[in-house]
Amino acid sequence: MIDPHAKLALESIATVGGRGTKFNYTTGAVTLRNYIQRKEGFKSEFHHCYGALIVEVDEDGHWWVRQLNGDSAGTIYDLNVMAHRGVVVECPYGETYVEAMNFGDTHVDEIDKEIKEATWGPGGVVDMLRPKYQIHNDLIDFHRRSHHAQKDTFKMFKRFVQGRECVETEVRDVLGFLLETQRDFSETVVVDANHNRHIAGWLNGTDARHDPINAYYWSHLLSRVYAYQRDNDGAEPILLELAIRELADATLRVKFIDSNTSFVICKDCGGGIECGLHGDRGPNGARGNIRSFARMGRRTNTGHSHVACICDGAHSAGTKSKLRLEYNDGPSSWSHSDIVTYVNGKRAILTYYAGKAWA
Ligand SMILES: [Fe+2]
Repeated sequence: MIDPHAKLALESIATVGGRGTKFNYTTGAVTLRNYIQRKEGFKSEFHHCYGALIVEVDEDGHWWVRQLNGDSAGTIYDLNVMAHRGVVVECPYGETYVEAMNFGDTHVDEIDKEIKEATWGPGGVVDMLRPKYQIHNDLIDFHRRSHHAQKDTFKMFKRFVQGRECVETEVRDVLGFLLETQRDFSETVVVDANHNRHIAGWLNGTDARHDPINAYYWSHLLSRVYAYQRDNDGAEPILLELAIRELADATLRVKFIDSNTSFVICKDCGGGIECGLHGDRGPNGARGNIRSFARMGRRTNTGHSHVACICDGAHSAGTKSKLRLEYNDGPSSWSHSDIVTYVNGKRAILTYYAGKAWA
């Protein structure tokens, strides 16, 4: 559903049986700001957006919607096109209009192969948009020994049947994914996220001495963490980074962000956009919630929920994983959605259908 409204918003509506998430969009407006100068007027004026939606429908009935959002200079970006004062300029070869892509949560071990191909395959979204930053949330799924599954005999037996039990293999696959998807034109950034931290739960809360396939790697990684702490005044490492870097050589170029470090893009555009938050942790120890992020002083691009959303300055991406995993039985509003942030700090959410992010 598309509603005309002066504010840009997006809500994902759950459906049953894999029918595809329903989306409610608003458009933004082309009318000038004209608000009463009182509290509600000030708020509405702040969120008044000069914008529109582009809707594409192909001959098979697949549809794509993305936001156009004009900045204070009247410039509008859309993928690799810029419009300014009535002139449309295609991005020159080798340059980019895209500051960052905040991908839907990556979950390498559970990634949807078609979406991976559409994003990083030859001629895919990343090579076409050439984002300066590729930002990953929940990079590792930690499917093989997640604490969510450890006490469920059927889920663990499924891992045995499918031969997906070795944690070291999963970490090596993540390294392979990083090497495959890194690009000369962009910096890969990995945000601290709850699935990345499942490694901590595994090292801390399980005794893998009775898990032969993982016993060596578990004790090896544990000793590596102790060694790091011993040499760093007790500080805890970013566990995924520690695990990845010991397997990697100098060809890997990636930046890991810890949970209390800010990572702001487009700093010169309206105060920038915080990308260092995964979305699971909200202010003051509360659970993360897009509405609480919308009340923060700075705009945010987050992940975690797997649910695409635009709530004022807070944007949430979807997921790169399959849309049905072990932990979202029942109605679901997950979607394959990425946040694209242009160089002027304006954003759009791209949702993939039929293996494509646009028609
Ligand atoms: Fe996730």
